Amino acid sequence: MMAIVGERSSCFKRVPLIERYRSFLPLSDSSPIVSLLEGFTPLVRVDRLASRISDKITLYVKFEGMNPTGSFKDRGMTMAISKAVEAGSKATICASTGNTAASAAAYSARAGLVCAVILPKGEVALGKVSQSMMHGAKVIAVDGNFDDALRIVLEITENYPITLVNSLNPFRIEGQKTGAFEICDDLGHPPMYHAIPVGNAGNITAYWAGYRAYHEAGVIDRLPIMLGFQAAGSAPIVEGRPIPNPQTIATAIRIGNPASWKQAEAARDESGGLIEKVTDEEITEAQKLLAATEGIFCEPASAASVAGVIKKASEGFFKTQCEVVCVLTGHGLKDPKRAIEICPPFIELPADTDAVAREMKLI
Ligand code: F0G
Repeated sequence: MMAIVGERSSCFKRVPLIERYRSFLPLSDSSPIVSLLEGFTPLVRVDRLASRISDKITLYVKFEGMNPTGSFKDRGMTMAISKAVEAGSKATICASTGNTAASAAAYSARAGLVCAVILPKGEVALGKVSQSMMHGAKVIAVDGNFDDALRIVLEITENYPITLVNSLNPFRIEGQKTGAFEICDDLGHPPMYHAIPVGNAGNITAYWAGYRAYHEAGVIDRLPIMLGFQAAGSAPIVEGRPIPNPQTIATAIRIGNPASWKQAEAARDESGGLIEKVTDEEITEAQKLLAATEGIFCEPASAASVAGVIKKASEGFFKTQCEVVCVLTGHGLKDPKRAIEICPPFIELPADTDAVAREMKLI
């Protein structure tokens, strides 16, 4: 009998993500499942936004901010932590721009494991830091960038019995494949184009693996074209060289030497797609447009997928009527400081009805 950690929480017939897609995942009958009931995130059709972009596209966004810790990382983490428990591990570690850390901290807490997260000092959005701290992880900020943090974590896991839960852990990629399964299940077929932000390049690798797995199993009869987008100041794959000092306001993807570089290129080339860059201004514009036209608040890195689609549409890339899915990888509340900075200030008034009505031009 399979053991589900916290079994009683699986009420309302909602099953753990990796239980639902078990036949596509490396789980045995005796594998424990550590779950916070992640996945099954909304695939929202966004016609109002699409009409602002192109008359050629039907646009959907997969809002991964609706996962338990507010990002897509939970898909991979439920798998990685379940397998860590199965292997008898007592401790986990990751390098992170914030979301992997939040997810690792939460799922480790759920499983009763000790967790350490190594962050680039001063470059992690506020919401993400608060999550790692609240979940009781050992939070260490190093005087360097994500690439430095990853190097340190790799050296530690080579020498000490601690489970690495970065996407170099193959179970992370396995779990994240489920995003592709859900998109195909919801649409009833794969989209024509799949747009996604690229940082350490694990997620584009996972989505492509997921689409291929469904294709090989005969669930879908064709594959989507993968469109990856990096931030212009942190675009090693686009530039074709590591970026020693990557910069972007989208701190989640501020990465100069992605671990899954080759796999991302394979996803691009095998699907006949592309990996291009979008500027911080384009990212910010897309984030605001999505929030203001559709009521969906994603974090800056996530908006890179929408910014990329806007850019490609303006170049005349979408020539015939087609479906496009943008993955919105994390929730906007992860980075409230940035959101407040990019909006006009709110108005302060005395607690007086006439003053408010006047401001609203009612009188
Ligand atoms: N979007 C968000 C919100 C992310 O947090 C990340 C990566 C990405 C996109 C890029 O995904 O790395 O698989 O290409 N965040 C990692 C972290 C690096 O540590 O949280 P990727």
